[in-house]
Amino acid sequence: MFTTSPVQQMLFEQRRIFVKRDDLLHPDFSGNKARKFYHFLSQDYSHVTHLVGSGSAQANSLYSMSVLAKQRGWQFDYYVSHVNDFIIHHPKGNYAAAIANGANIIDVSKRKQADQYQQMHLDDVVKQILESNNSQFCSLLHIPEGGRCEYAEVGLAILANEIIDWARLNNISELKVFLPSGTGTTAAYLNKQLIQQLACIDATQLNIEVITCSTVGGDGYLTEQFSQLVDKVYFPTVVNDGHKYHFGKLTRRCFDMWKTVCESGIEFELLYDPVGFLVLKDYLAKHPQWQGDIVYLHQGGVLGNQTMLPRYQRKFAK
Ligand SMILES: Cc1ncc(COP(=O)(O)O)c(C=O)c1O
Repeated sequence: MFTTSPVQQMLFEQRRIFVKRDDLLHPDFSGNKARKFYHFLSQDYSHVTHLVGSGSAQANSLYSMSVLAKQRGWQFDYYVSHVNDFIIHHPKGNYAAAIANGANIIDVSKRKQADQYQQMHLDDVVKQILESNNSQFCSLLHIPEGGRCEYAEVGLAILANEIIDWARLNNISELKVFLPSGTGTTAAYLNKQLIQQLACIDATQLNIEVITCSTVGGDGYLTEQFSQLVDKVYFPTVVNDGHKYHFGKLTRRCFDMWKTVCESGIEFELLYDPVGFLVLKDYLAKHPQWQGDIVYLHQGGVLGNQTMLPRYQRKFAK
């Protein structure tokens, strides 16, 4: 369904790093959504007529789910805690593309229970709404926020296999795979699959460590997310650079880092990648003796730049 994503080189902090271009996997299933939703694309879901998702009105997953629903002929309802008026009147990026695909975006802050919903996690709000609607659960598929569900592991097993094959083909013995995390689903399942697959083949010559950083809520929150998905032995290494990052907050440091890495000729996205590269920079500075190879996982999401970049440009116009 998807071909193996290419690996390219770029110069970062005066050293060569490899970039696993999952952003090139498929025009509609950008990066880690192609991996997380692989299961739903490859299995028989003919009993389903209705897809339900939730998250931010600008999320990459909103767009990818809208494509999945359109391809499968499913009704698609997507719950958000709030949509701001600007985006409603000037739709762009993931939001505009999802609406064009027929997504029905439901703003729970406009419902009469809004005060009660404010205290709850959005996934729980959705569950409550579906239960109160007496939804037909057999024909309904609910994908939790950010694709955080066990089905994501199916596609991430393929990614793990691609990385191992590539490393062996290139005679790499020490490899660190670096990726920024949101829910931690990609990092946790990737690490679990790498560990399990390396144990099944005679790969004693190959050591792979998955390193990630939090872009939402700090290291403790990320570890908590891992524990809902995998056993402790499969937790990836979590690093930070001493800064607390607030998801989606526009900072000069992030914008400058994004501009620097895009000079490589590869377009990165503006929510996760700037934090990823800032933390990777700090990690490299703290581990100067480490001479093995590094793969940075490009997890797609560049469609979101259509809304993020104008916001950055407005804020840092000077
Ligand atoms: C571009 C991009 N990078 C990183 C992530 C974080 O992935 P995860 O939630 O699996 O940690 C996401 C969210 O899915 C994303 O869209």
